[in-house]
Amino acid sequence: MTRTLASHAGTPTSIRVFAAPDSMRDWSRRVRGAGRCLALVPTMGALHEGHRSLFRAAGEAGDAVAASIFVNPAQFGEGEDFEHYPRQLEADLEICAAEGVEAVYAPARGAVYAPAHSTWIVEEALAAPFEGACRPGHFRGVLTIVLKLFQVVEPDVAVFGQKDLQQALLIRRMVRDLDSPVQIRIAPTIRDADGLALSSRNAYLDADERQRALRLSRALRAAAQRLAAGETDTGRIRQAGRALLEGNGGLDVEYLEVADLETMQTPARVEGPVAIIGAVRVGRTRLIDNVIYPPGALAGLSAGASTS
Ligand code: PAF
Repeated sequence: MTRTLASHAGTPTSIRVFAAPDSMRDWSRRVRGAGRCLALVPTMGALHEGHRSLFRAAGEAGDAVAASIFVNPAQFGEGEDFEHYPRQLEADLEICAAEGVEAVYAPARGAVYAPAHSTWIVEEALAAPFEGACRPGHFRGVLTIVLKLFQVVEPDVAVFGQKDLQQALLIRRMVRDLDSPVQIRIAPTIRDADGLALSSRNAYLDADERQRALRLSRALRAAAQRLAAGETDTGRIRQAGRALLEGNGGLDVEYLEVADLETMQTPARVEGPVAIIGAVRVGRTRLIDNVIYPPGALAGLSAGASTS
């Protein structure tokens, strides 16, 4: 289906919206057959400024940009927010058109998972700690859908956000380990002026919760500042961050940890590039965030395909 929507310049532009894998793949093959480099931004919709920045990064990486919009049931655990996850396809398509996305793959659940689907992608090292420990089965669902999207869209490049750092590193590892030709780019986290990392789940926060949620980015920054000041003891770095999360009006902390960027393991002392990575609950909302130290270290990582 072709939809006509307003482009960035305000002029009408057409965007292709595909629900069926075969029609998506046909379009992609025509685009790539014409010698254009295709960049994909996989999303679950509820698009915001962070996604816009991914579309722009994709526009820099490729000649044509496609997006996918699919709230993937397989990556939500029992009791998580699958049912309530914000769904706003029309508004999302407007954003895609405004950012120059040429095609959107928005399949129904039945087009993605055949009845009795029973094949899954599992990674056994980087996936173990942090999100993998707190959300069993989550990364199995993520890797499976991402590989399926790659099989349908056949992009040359795919762009993911640094906000979901462990996810992005796992996807790079999967691509390397399974010989996928897709190049993976990791684009920087976009934050509100007060530091809160943009997330579709921020929509769940009321004003008081949003204020309290700021503690997460502040805690990560405090830990990174400790590192920048020359501290290498992981316990003291972690404590510099946790001190801001706990205490009066504190958040429910799932983890705030130092992670080696290559292995996602927590070193006793920091000797190479790391992420300070955290997950908290604010009321009923679960938020994650991270900062990289030294800044820019993602670009120099060895595992898998290139980053930006
Ligand atoms: O980061 C997300 O939005 C999702 O995990 C992804 C990569 C689109 C897979 O469903």
